[in-house]
Amino acid sequence: MKAIQFKNYGGPEVLEYVDLPNPTPGPNEVLVKIHAAALNAADWHIMRGTPYFMRLAFGLFKPKYTRLGCDLSGVVEAVGEEVTAFSVGDEVCGEVSGGEVGFGAFSEYLAVKSERLIHKPTKLSLEEAAALSLSAITAWQGLKKGGLKAGERILINGASGGVGTYVIQLAKALGAHVTAVCSTGKIDMVKQLGADDVIDYTQTDFVQQDKQYDMVFAVNGSKSIKDYKKVLKPQGRYIMCGGENRQLFEVMIFGGFYSKKGGQQFHPVIAKYSKSDLEAIKKLVEAGKVKPVIDRTYSLPDVAKAMAYLEEGHARGKIVLTIGA
Ligand SMILES: NC(=O)c1ccc[n+]([C@@H]2O[C@H](COP(=O)([O-])OP(=O)(O)OC[C@H]3O[C@@H](n4cnc5c(N)ncnc54)[C@H](OP(=O)(O)O)[C@@H]3O)[C@@H](O)[C@H]2O)c1
Repeated sequence: MKAIQFKNYGGPEVLEYVDLPNPTPGPNEVLVKIHAAALNAADWHIMRGTPYFMRLAFGLFKPKYTRLGCDLSGVVEAVGEEVTAFSVGDEVCGEVSGGEVGFGAFSEYLAVKSERLIHKPTKLSLEEAAALSLSAITAWQGLKKGGLKAGERILINGASGGVGTYVIQLAKALGAHVTAVCSTGKIDMVKQLGADDVIDYTQTDFVQQDKQYDMVFAVNGSKSIKDYKKVLKPQGRYIMCGGENRQLFEVMIFGGFYSKKGGQQFHPVIAKYSKSDLEAIKKLVEAGKVKPVIDRTYSLPDVAKAMAYLEEGHARGKIVLTIGA
């Protein structure tokens, strides 16, 4: 089979389109003929081995995991003898991030632990289903950690990319009032996804406005924890999943210091695969409340171009590799 492999850390040029032996499923694994795979920031972090502390887990000088790709969709080709939930021919999607399952969605076939898969939502194409898992789970777990409730007001900084487009839709599905922060060219898209208010960060700094929110979800951007403190209500919750270094590390180091019992809370969220969370998101997809937004698709041999585009940091929604016919 064809697959993407890399042997050294670096930019998209380290990605090789190679022939590898077809995998054989273990007893509780499902062999998936992959139709599509989505790109995630995790892929370029693993490819580059940055931030450097990641290398403690991913290989100090050379990558320990030489395959990329966390999100996939496809058709079941074979099942291991202990698998009861899936049959040959089923359309599935799922998530394979993490050392214990080993990545590898950028390939024609993958043997996937059955708990890492669900049946594809009927409302989605296989391309769309490939773009669902990791970003939507991150959005869902962040909203749960922030305890967002119906009627509350949430501000999403970085609302227009892979994770942000899910945060908007999931927050609306939870009944919240959504303020999305994005650049001028993405205003129409975030409104279509359900944002009630939009702040164009090229024109207005949301920190300078006199408005406060029950929850802030920092998906992208580079604001300081003090900036976010200003826009939170006295018992507001701040959840950070990404962005530039200051935004990323400040809350990890000082979040506990700034969080007060009965007062404002500042926490990071690190997504962890959960089949029940993915099934909950699937229900919202089937109810027509959530739909993946796909910016561009690339073919598997063009993965370097797709990664270069992802690294520019301006995707509107998800970037997908189409692999099987
Ligand atoms: N914690 C976790 O478990 C977890 C899981 C998944 C992802 N992440 C992290 O979450 C972050 C977002 O991931 P993603 O997949 O959404 O990334 P992405 O798709 O690459 O995000 C691109 C979007 O971010 C917007 N953006 C860039 N700079 C911005 C700024 N200063 N202010 C507001 N918006 C800005 C861009 O809009 P413009 O082009 O209009 O600027 C673009 O639409 C990344 O840092 C990623 O590493 C964390």
